[in-house]
Amino acid sequence: MRILGIETSCDETAAAVVEDGRRILSSVVSSQVDIHHLYGGVVPELASRKHIEAIVPVVEQALIDAGLKPAQIDAVAATQGPGLVGALLVGFSFAKALAYARNLPFLGVDHLEGHLSSVLLSDEPPDFPFVALLASGGHTAIYHVKAEGHHDLLGQTRDDAAGEAYDKVAKMLGLGYPGGRVIDRLARSGNPDHIAFPRPYLDKQKFDFSFSGIKTAVSRHIQTAGAALTQAQQADIAAAFQAAVVDVLTHKVLHAAEVKHCQRVAIVGGVAANQGLRERLLGEATGRSIALHLPPAALCGDNAAMIAAAAHRHFLQGAQSSLQDDVYSRHRRTPV
Ligand code: KG4
Ligand code: ZN
Repeated sequence: MRILGIETSCDETAAAVVEDGRRILSSVVSSQVDIHHLYGGVVPELASRKHIEAIVPVVEQALIDAGLKPAQIDAVAATQGPGLVGALLVGFSFAKALAYARNLPFLGVDHLEGHLSSVLLSDEPPDFPFVALLASGGHTAIYHVKAEGHHDLLGQTRDDAAGEAYDKVAKMLGLGYPGGRVIDRLARSGNPDHIAFPRPYLDKQKFDFSFSGIKTAVSRHIQTAGAALTQAQQADIAAAFQAAVVDVLTHKVLHAAEVKHCQRVAIVGGVAANQGLRERLLGEATGRSIALHLPPAALCGDNAAMIAAAAHRHFLQGAQSSLQDDVYSRHRRTPV
């Protein structure tokens, strides 16, 4: 079964063709970051407009890369939510129209389920059950994934998402948007021990997170520093901030694996591309006989292959969305 997936929940216009839920035939991601960079964050109105411009060429490119004609697609899936409504509507409506015109099954996919499915597309996907850390710009949560599409939420952030904290700290340091990759790189040249930022909830047994306190501590530190920061000071702030975030994420996900007696851990979402987090987890997992599943960076950030992969199971079970269905900004209202 060849599924065309479409993703437009935030600032990436993406389309992909995935065969049988596992084999990526093509995956095209057109990023808008250059535009939003100017404003220090995603401007929803601009995002919608850019999706409208990009959606047709991106879908066409995904078909070309897969070497397929539209008639060779078996089903269409698109992100239904959560995300920016105006952005979601572009991909969701396009997918509906395409499915209607070609008389194909259509499915709306939850973006978070998409992220969780991204690890199934990696070269060595984990067996079930596994514990997954989902850390992105909009979400930070730990799940016990018992089977495909069946996951229990163990804990989540009470305020900012990890990626959001990265983006805000980057903005404070004048490094633009998005901040994750820039801070990750800058952190390499800094000393994480020069500043001690808080590690909220580290001592708690629960799996909830809080990142706004770390962000505020960084802001206060920058204010106290007063004059313009040198590059070395910036690097130290990046390194100390990253150390705090990585400490909390690593500790919580490994603790969840321990509590669930689970030897398999996966990380997904944009922040899963973080080198510091990946290296730390690799170091900690060795010696605890935990198999770590780190998807390639291209599958961590928003992409449409993960949406097609998540849709596959639903289609196999005969699920379809109605062409009357609407997108949602926060939580799915109707289960698939
Ligand atoms: O999954 P994603 O592409 O979109 C959402 O669903 O939010 O995640 C984007 C987030 C942004 O906040 C970005 O700064 C962060 O992931 N990110 C990173 C890295 N690469 C992207 N955060 C930390 N380190 C990175 N290397
Ligand atoms: Zn995402």
